[in-house]
Amino acid sequence: MKALVLSGGSGTRLRPFTYSMPKQLMPIANRPVLEHVLENIRELGVSEVGIVVGDRATEIAAVLGDGSRFGLELTYIRQEKPLGLAHCVTIARDFLGEDDFVMYLGDNMLPDGVQEIAREFAARRPTAQVVVRRVADPRAFGVAEVAPDGRVTRLVEKPERPNSDLALTGVYFLTPLIHQAIDRITPSARGELEITDALQWLISYGATVLAREYTGYWKDTGCVEDVLDCNRELLGDLKGSVTGLVDAESELVGPVVVEAGARVVRSRIVGPAIVGAGSHVVDSQVGPYTSIGRDCRLLDAALEGSIMLDGASVSRVPALRGSLIGRAAAVTSADVGSAHGRLVVGDHTHVEVAA
Ligand code: DAU
Repeated sequence: MKALVLSGGSGTRLRPFTYSMPKQLMPIANRPVLEHVLENIRELGVSEVGIVVGDRATEIAAVLGDGSRFGLELTYIRQEKPLGLAHCVTIARDFLGEDDFVMYLGDNMLPDGVQEIAREFAARRPTAQVVVRRVADPRAFGVAEVAPDGRVTRLVEKPERPNSDLALTGVYFLTPLIHQAIDRITPSARGELEITDALQWLISYGATVLAREYTGYWKDTGCVEDVLDCNRELLGDLKGSVTGLVDAESELVGPVVVEAGARVVRSRIVGPAIVGAGSHVVDSQVGPYTSIGRDCRLLDAALEGSIMLDGASVSRVPALRGSLIGRAAAVTSADVGSAHGRLVVGDHTHVEVAA
């Protein structure tokens, strides 16, 4: 079996971050979503991975390289425009050949893994097998209607009135018949070739498409709230380790990671929390559920349930919570005595100021 990871797309819901980075590189517990995805794929025993990339190809390749770091062999496949998930399969045709493959959306986090579901696919080898998750509101997803024996009877992409609470997660086990189905579908109302439509085409022609329920934590990291929630979830399993410097006046409580070259001075860090390599935390309070990236500065500040991306700084800000602070962004309080704050805020930025 091969794997096809989809890492193109536009990432509009994660603006402004996606102006400068692809959404699949957003760090969760200080590691890009795509690295978590590739680890899950390696656990399946798959080694040949095609990775569909759009105009952010260079940044993705700079982080993932040839995949040897993950024990994988990566082949980059360029998609000129985000024309849909099924379009990605079409352009990967030469790479996929006549092999079965797992298609994995590069913004999806399933930290409990899909090994069991992969084993079932290999043993039963239906035409396709989708991974579904029960959700309270499935309208933002593909929705599967499933018979008691596990066969999918109908698939609809983002229905206004869903007939089931089973959402399609971003993992699909597919056989080469999917190529015939994709050749026969047309673009949806949103102008994309939908994998959901290709699977529905197979179902209509009597092919066996099975659904297997994943019951663990699942997140499509498409927007800021989802990224923060996912970060919180993954930090929940953090094991503490200190390779950086923590001075005698600082206190670490619970699982805290202080990476190499990081410095914690006169501060209190409540885990789970990570202070990334080269970052300085001085006279501050951090955590719980907080990830600080590389080379950040936190001076005389308090940060909880938040993520700071590489090179960001926060100084003289007494209480921030639920924040996602972009790369090299600076957050600071106004000068002493000033009655006004001051903002230099980029496009599509979201700011909430205490009233
Ligand atoms: O997250 C699960 C959902 O993912 C499923 O429930 C839906 O059925 C499925 O259509 C998909 O919906 P989204 O609207 O969330 O897909 P999105 O546009 O976010 O794309 C998913 C991933 O695929 C993302 O990493 C970007 C990448 N992509 C997307 C498109 C449209 C590409 O590489 N090329 C593309 O043309």
